Amino acid sequence: MSPLPSGPLTGATALYAATRRLSEAGVADPGRDARRLFAHAIGVDPGRLTLVLPEPVEGEALAAFEALIERRCAREPVSHLTGSRAFYGRRFRVTRDVLDPRPETELLVEAALSEPFGHVLDLGTGSGCILLSLLAEMPDARGVGVDVSEAACAVARENAAALGLSDRAHISVSDWVSRVEGVFDLVVSNPPYIAQEEMAELAPEVRDWEPSGALTDGGDGLSCYRAILDGAQEVLAPGGRLLMELGAGQAEAVGTLAVARGFAPIALIPDLDGRDRVIVLGMPHSGF
Ligand SMILES: C[S@@+](CC[C@H](N)C(=O)[O-])C[C@H]1O[C@@H](n2cnc3c(N)ncnc32)[C@H](O)[C@@H]1O
Repeated sequence: MSPLPSGPLTGATALYAATRRLSEAGVADPGRDARRLFAHAIGVDPGRLTLVLPEPVEGEALAAFEALIERRCAREPVSHLTGSRAFYGRRFRVTRDVLDPRPETELLVEAALSEPFGHVLDLGTGSGCILLSLLAEMPDARGVGVDVSEAACAVARENAAALGLSDRAHISVSDWVSRVEGVFDLVVSNPPYIAQEEMAELAPEVRDWEPSGALTDGGDGLSCYRAILDGAQEVLAPGGRLLMELGAGQAEAVGTLAVARGFAPIALIPDLDGRDRVIVLGMPHSGF
């Protein structure tokens, strides 16, 4: 592994050397990650980085950057190193206790916002990125976010406070709907959907650093859908919508599980790769 050059050096040189180290460590997009970590280490907005690259970098800033590059070489995710991730136009705090919010989950948020709602429930809220984005975009709505992990709930509460949404977002521990009270016209979830047997194939950033309880159900990848579909029947208002993110190749199986429980299939929404990513289901007006 090539070390960073010693002695006074410019931001551009430090960035070049760091990019090489990340590349040698197998990081997928070394240039992008090096830039984000450099911006974080020197405390500038990533969009302004080009302006400061010709300047010398030394002392604490250089040491901080080297430490970040070292950790990234061990495949720690960038969001853990910077402590945050941008999602649907807002910044969310991210720790090892929550799933790193994914860009594809923004599709679920967008689909949920396509119709008005007043009371939303987010099952498996994690960082709170789905619930809090929905509430931020829908100023008259209120919502509940639940997670089986108390540590995840603490992160979601922090994010709610940082976004000024604590008065409209109630975050609490619950095994799916077991401790949920009330009725909702919108239920959303991005459940752990990776089958246990697929876990070994994941990138080290995901497999080694993200909470396994946020990734897999420990079984066939469908058991959380079964539990959520069963639970949603208890808390969805007649005419309400249930939106769930889907793993690769799960659309048909989840659709079958939903229809068998009396849900009306409304839509399957593909992601940019053309894979069915979100399923939209309706609660019949007559109830089940
Ligand atoms: C794929 S992550 C989604 C996190 C966040 N909603 C997002 O989209 O980034 C799934 C979440 O479900 C939570 N979870 C797993 N089993 C659960 C259960 N039985 N009841 C409630 N939440 C659960 C995990 O702790 C994790 O935070």
